[in-house]
Amino acid sequence: MAVPGDKSISHRSVMLGALAVGETRITGLLEGEDVLSTAAAMRAMGATIERDLNGMWHVHGVGVGGLLQPQQALDMGNSGTSTRLLMGLVATHPITATFVGDASLSKRPMGRVIDPLSTMGADFTAAPGGRLPLTLRGISPAVPIEYRLPVASAQVKSAILLAGLNTPGITTVIEPVPTRDHSERMLRGFGAELTVEIDGDGTRVIRVRGEAELRPQNIVVPGDPSSAAFFVVAALLVEGSDLVVENVGLNPTRAALFDVLRAMGGSIEELDRRDVGGEPVADLRVRHSQLIGIDVDPAVVPSMVDEFPVLFVAAALARGRTVTTGLEELRVKESDRISAMHAALTLAGASVTETEDGLIIDGTGGDLLPGTPDGASVVTHLDHRIAMAMAVAGLVSRNGVEVDDTRPIATSFPVFESLLAQVSGNA
Ligand code: S3P
Repeated sequence: MAVPGDKSISHRSVMLGALAVGETRITGLLEGEDVLSTAAAMRAMGATIERDLNGMWHVHGVGVGGLLQPQQALDMGNSGTSTRLLMGLVATHPITATFVGDASLSKRPMGRVIDPLSTMGADFTAAPGGRLPLTLRGISPAVPIEYRLPVASAQVKSAILLAGLNTPGITTVIEPVPTRDHSERMLRGFGAELTVEIDGDGTRVIRVRGEAELRPQNIVVPGDPSSAAFFVVAALLVEGSDLVVENVGLNPTRAALFDVLRAMGGSIEELDRRDVGGEPVADLRVRHSQLIGIDVDPAVVPSMVDEFPVLFVAAALARGRTVTTGLEELRVKESDRISAMHAALTLAGASVTETEDGLIIDGTGGDLLPGTPDGASVVTHLDHRIAMAMAVAGLVSRNGVEVDDTRPIATSFPVFESLLAQVSGNA
């Protein structure tokens, strides 16, 4: 089986294609709601974006500096990545845009991007607490900044780098803890002048030269490791499994889940390691394994920040205790994933304790979970990853797991349910 294209890379390929002059062609784009929100916004700001009958996407860009004033509010749906990265783009164009989103997105903090982008000269009116709906008045020319990230966030880093594209001079982001580096890789691929210097203590200093001219590219989007994660964990947990997940992106800033699962005793083999679109990729062969609980090193959190919901499910079936710490950022994702997974796994009969910055899980040692009681269902809080993680938990439960709302799955992985039915023989 294969999972759809990487969400982070898909967003960036549409955005950068829309800023290049000429035609960018994208193969393997994730056609999830989040990426479609990005595409709709870039269209509203002047780009032409079309899908052909073979599933290839064609983007005709407007050039850096060429974004047009959108005529209506930009509807970001559930997508934090669209919102924060597009705020970066709009901030240094002489246009005004209003960003709106669903109930989940409207609770998420935007101050982390408002602060640096205000320093560059953009002006914001946001709902209380720096939230959506938010109106951004961009500025050109903007002021280049040097900004040290106060939170480990690829979205904040990327927002500033994208803002730097249309800013005279050099914009610098200092990143004490490395986060996913797709923006850096892709900006270089499109011809931006971008350098990364790594200090002795691992701090990354990323510089981009503004007033950039981007050259259109042919992009192949690798499979999303964050989507593969659900199938990898399902195969580890379900007895008798031997599954190959093809074409999984293994960028080291994304792939820590697979290392953690191996450290827990999971059999995950990399086959045919190769390069796709400037990113390392392999097929993963996964076999059913008895997992053992571990203490997860908080240093790996940024490299698997979206994978904790499904790791918690793996831990719930492991032998012994799994302790996670340093997960504060999980509280401001599509939902508060620490408390949502605490509630969800507890409802399904797992033994889970919530701490300020993580969960402590005492696994069953491989025995099935009871599952959700009749008439009760897991509350997903408009969070696709809670729904998918608990669907995996359902496969290893006696009663099955009932989830209140599966619609959010379409934001990142529209074919999840049919693929899961296929590989688990329930199609
Ligand atoms: C993303 C960065 C991460 C991640 C999100 C995608 C990106 O968010 O959780 O799903 O594409 O840059 P943060 O920057 O908030 O950690």
